Formats: sequence, structure tokens, C-alpha cells
Amino acid sequence: MGRLYKNCALVVGASGGIGSALVSAFLSDGEIGHVFAASANDVAQGNNTNTKLTWLPYQYNEPSIISVVDQLSELKVQVSHICICSGILHGENLRPEKRLEDLNSESLQILFHANSIVPILWIKALRGLCNSDQKCCIAVLSARVGSISDNRLGGWYGYRSSKAALNMLLKSASVEYARRNKNVKLISFHPGTTDTELSKPFQSAVRAEKLFTPDFVASKLLELMNSSDIDGELSFLDWQGETVEW
Ligand SMILES: NC(=O)c1ccc[n+]([C@@H]2O[C@H](COP(=O)([O-])OP(=O)(O)OC[C@H]3O[C@@H](n4cnc5c(N)ncnc54)[C@H](OP(=O)(O)O)[C@@H]3O)[C@@H](O)[C@H]2O)c1
Repeated sequence: MGRLYKNCALVVGASGGIGSALVSAFLSDGEIGHVFAASANDVAQGNNTNTKLTWLPYQYNEPSIISVVDQLSELKVQVSHICICSGILHGENLRPEKRLEDLNSESLQILFHANSIVPILWIKALRGLCNSDQKCCIAVLSARVGSISDNRLGGWYGYRSSKAALNMLLKSASVEYARRNKNVKLISFHPGTTDTELSKPFQSAVRAEKLFTPDFVASKLLELMNSSDIDGELSFLDWQGETVEW
């Protein structure tokens, strides 16, 4: 008889700072049967010898996402925890905009693709996998700067708006999941400023006690996921479990 994958965790963007900390946290959680780690980073996948961990290489496009979810379906994987940790803030020729003159179409498209489109394509593809009796909590990494009501400083046009778009996409998905996947809870999660490649260029303005380690953030997110009830709602929560205003 084939192996039964129950109570599994799936981490998308598993090579990133927060993604890799979540993989480690799930690996050391005795309640989790197996960890699947989806990543476009070949180097991070390296020589994996942990029998509780399976890397799933993928590219940031829909056919590739569907192919990963198909593999999980064929293995009859039952997922209890899904974390989508994809995102970008800066990159080559890509810096958060300080003023309108800094905006350009190419950067906006790159940010929207990574921060809004890739995560919602995962949510679309995962619907078929998350329809067993197993309770499943899906957390998508968003950001407080995607809150429209919290935006007092302006700037960061592309990152802010792509996270706001992510939240709206997730809100619509939560309405549909509540109807079609009644065992799923959706969380849009703000981790706080976390010491990863994404935040590196912006850490100098952050007080030491406000800069979290990825391990700390991963443990907070796991606590939150484990204590969340399935209520058919999208919750926008920070690392303390407090609601962030839209
Ligand atoms: N660090 C912070 O202070 C902070 C604060 C607020 C929100 N967040 C959010 O937390 C999430 C994780 O960020 P992090 O701090 O762990 O950053 P990170 O270390 O840079 O990891 C982000 C991961 O996103 C994936 N990615 C990169 N380019 C992508 C693209 N074009 N399309 C889709 N995915 C792409 C990569 O994963 P693979 O290589 O494995 O595919 C990458 O490792 C992001 O959504 C970020 O916006 C972070």
C-alpha cells in the first residue's frame, strides 16, 4: 500500500527567509506528518536527506503551479497547513518608489505578478486539494503597508498596492471558499519587520527589538494557524494575532 500523507504542511516560497523558517518549524512539529516545500530556487533545494521533507521545484507561472498541485493530488496528500510566502519588494533596477516620478510600468508589473498574481494562482489551484474532511488553514504573507487605512506616509506605490490587491483577491477567494471548501480558514498575515533579504535595505530605520528573526515569526504564525477557527472569513492579522484594518 502506498504511503498515506496526512496532516501535511505545504510551504510556497520555501527558500525565502520566512519560508525556510516555516519549513524548519513544521519539520520539528510532531503533529505534522510531512512537509512539502515549493520553490523556484534550485540551490536552496540542495541535497535533502530529511525523509519528512519533499521539495517541489516550480516556476512562477500557472502551468507550473498546477503541475505541483497535481503531484500532491496524485500522492493523496491531505494538507492541514499551507503558507504562501512569495513576495518581492526590491530587486535589480527595482526600488520602492518615493514619489510619483519613480513609477514605471515594468516595475509595477513585476511587483503585482510576485505579490498578488502568483499567490492567488496558488489559491485557485489548491481548491481541489483542500476539499477533504481535514481542516486546513491557509496563511498568505501580506503586509501592513497593504492596508489602505493605515497608509499615512505614502510612497512604496507598487509594493503597497500589490499587497492591497492581494488582500482583495483573498477576500473574494474567502467568500468562494466558504461556499465550496467549508473546511478551510484563510489568513492574510503581516509578519512585522523580519530580518530577511527582502527587508535588508530598509532595516537601518528599525529599532533592534522591532526587527524579528524568521524563526520567531514562524512560531507566531504557527500558533495563530493552530488556534484559528474555520469561520468562512478572511482574517488580516499581524504577528501578535491582532486584526489589521483594511
Ligand atoms: N521581511 C519582512 O520584513 C516582511 C514584512 C512584511 C511582509 N513580508 C512578506 O513576507 C513574505 C516573505 O518574505 P521574506 O521576508 O521571507 O522575503 P525573502 O526572503 O525575499 O523571500 C521571498 C520569497 O518569495 C519568492 N519569490 C521571489 N521572487 C518571486 C516572484 N517573482 N514570484 C513569486 N515568488 C517569488 C522566493 O521563494 P522561492 O525562491 O522559494 O520560490 C523568495 O525566496 C513576502 O510576501 C513579503 O512581502 C515580509
